[in-house]
Amino acid sequence: MIQQQRFNLLLGVSGSIAAYKAAQLARDLMRAGGEVRAVMTPSAVQFLPALTLENLTRYPVAVGMFDAAVQSGGSWHIHLARWCDVMLIAPCSAATLGKLANGICDTALTTLALAVPPASLLVAPAMDTEMWTHPATQRNVDILRSYGVRIIPPAHGDLASGFTGEGRLPELSALVEVVLSVIGETTVQHNPEQHPANEPQQHSREQAQVQEPQTPPEQQPAPEEEVRRAVERPDETLQDAIDARKFDVELEFEALKSGKTLNTWKGKTVVITAGPTYEKIDDVRFIGNYSSGKMGFALAEQAAQLGAKVQLISGPVALATPHGVERTNVESAQQMYDAVMPHADTADVFILAAAVADYAPAKKHDGKIKKSDTGETMTIELQQTPDILAALGRARRSGQVLVGFALESEQVQEYGREKLQRKNCDMIVANAAGKPDSGFGGDNNTISIITKDGSMRSFPPMSKHECAREILGAVERFFAT
Ligand code: CTP
Repeated sequence: MIQQQRFNLLLGVSGSIAAYKAAQLARDLMRAGGEVRAVMTPSAVQFLPALTLENLTRYPVAVGMFDAAVQSGGSWHIHLARWCDVMLIAPCSAATLGKLANGICDTALTTLALAVPPASLLVAPAMDTEMWTHPATQRNVDILRSYGVRIIPPAHGDLASGFTGEGRLPELSALVEVVLSVIGETTVQHNPEQHPANEPQQHSREQAQVQEPQTPPEQQPAPEEEVRRAVERPDETLQDAIDARKFDVELEFEALKSGKTLNTWKGKTVVITAGPTYEKIDDVRFIGNYSSGKMGFALAEQAAQLGAKVQLISGPVALATPHGVERTNVESAQQMYDAVMPHADTADVFILAAAVADYAPAKKHDGKIKKSDTGETMTIELQQTPDILAALGRARRSGQVLVGFALESEQVQEYGREKLQRKNCDMIVANAAGKPDSGFGGDNNTISIITKDGSMRSFPPMSKHECAREILGAVERFFAT
C-alpha cells in the first residue's frame, strides 16, 4: 500500500522576528507527514503567541521549564527528546545558538535540545547580517557542527531591519525539504508520488543546502547501506511504541510517588566485563575470539555518564578507557573470574558483556611448542573455564541486578531464556550471531532484551552506544521495582 512517510518532529522556536513564520512552518511540516510538537523560548512568545502553535499542533507548547502543562510524568524533556525523529530549531536566534553551542540549559528549548542526539538536531539561524557574521556566532556554529548538529545556513535577502544581506530564515518549503531529506536518510520513502520533495520547487537548492557536520567521508554509510538497514529493521508497531513510553512514564511517576530519587544511578557500583579472553597454549600462541570489546566499553561509558561508579574488567582490546571509568586489564577467563568475584558482595549491577572462552588448554606449555615435537597432527586437551556469570548467579545478594549476554545463531528467545534461568540472572541481552549489524567487531549491534518475567523486546540495528542506553534503561526498571 502506498502511504505517506510519517515522522515525529519537535519544532523549537526562538526569539527572532522570523518566529511569526513558525506557525506556517508547523502546518507545512504536518502536511508533509509530521506529528509536530512545539517548544518556544520566552523571547519567541513576544513575536508569536504560544497559543497559536498550541492550536495548530493540538499539543501543549513548552515555554517555561516548569510549566504544569508539560510536566506530566516527569522528565518531560527526555521523553519528548526520545519521542522525536528530528528536532528543528527555526528560527534560531544568536542567543539560542550560543546556548546550544555551550550546553546552557536555561530555557525549555535548550534543555530539550541537549537531550536530542546531535545528529537529529537541525538548526536554522536567523538574525541580522552583522550578528550572523560576528566571530562569536560563527564560532558557535563551528562548535555545533563539530558535535554533528546540522546547520541550515540563512538565506540572503531583505531583513526586518530594512537592510539587505545574509541572515533571513530560508523559505519554509526549503526547511521542509531539508527535514524530509534527513528523515529519508534512515527510512525508506514509500510514496515518491506524494512526497512533497517531488512537488514543483519554488525555491532554489542553494537556499536549502544543509551544511553537513565535518566528519570524514569514510565514516558516512553508503546510501544503499542505509536503505538495506532500514529494510531489515523489524517493525515496531505503534501500539508497542506507545506502551513502551507509557511504561517509562508510569515507572517514573511511581518512583516520584514513593519518594525514590529519579537519579537512579548515582552511588551505584556497576561492574562490566568486556572483550575477549586469551587462553594460553604456549608462550606465543593462544585460543581467542573476535570480540572487540566495543559493546562493553559503550556500556561502561554510558553508565559513568549516568553517574554510576564503574569498574570495567577488560580482556585484551585496543580501546581507550572511557572517562570516569576504573579499568582492570586481564587476559584469561581465570584472571577475569579472579578480578570480578571480589565485587560479588558489593556491586549493585553486573553486566557481563565479555566473550569469555568456554575452554582453555588443560596444560600450559612453557616456551614454544616445536613442530618437531608434535608431528603431523597435534591434540590440545581443553578444560572448561570457570563460568563467571553462573558463579555470580549462585552468590547473588538481594537487590543486585545481574545481566548476561548471549550470542546465539538460532532460537534466540528459547536459548536466551534457558541461559537466563540456568545462570540465575535478571536479564539476558541476546545478539544474533552471523548477521550484519550484530555481534563482534562492528560499531552496530542488533539486540533482544529478555527479562526474567519471560518477556523479550527486540530492537532494530543500532549503534552500540544506543544499545547501551537501552540496556541501561532496562536495568533501571529493576531498580524501580
Ligand atoms: N560467561 C561467563 N563465563 C564463562 C562463559 C560465559 O561469565 N566462562 C558469560 C558471558 O560473559 C555472557 C554469558 O555468560 O554474559 C553467556 O555466555 P555464552 O558463552 O553465550 O554462554 P554459555 O554458558 O557458554 O552457553 P553456550 O556456549 O552453550 O551457548
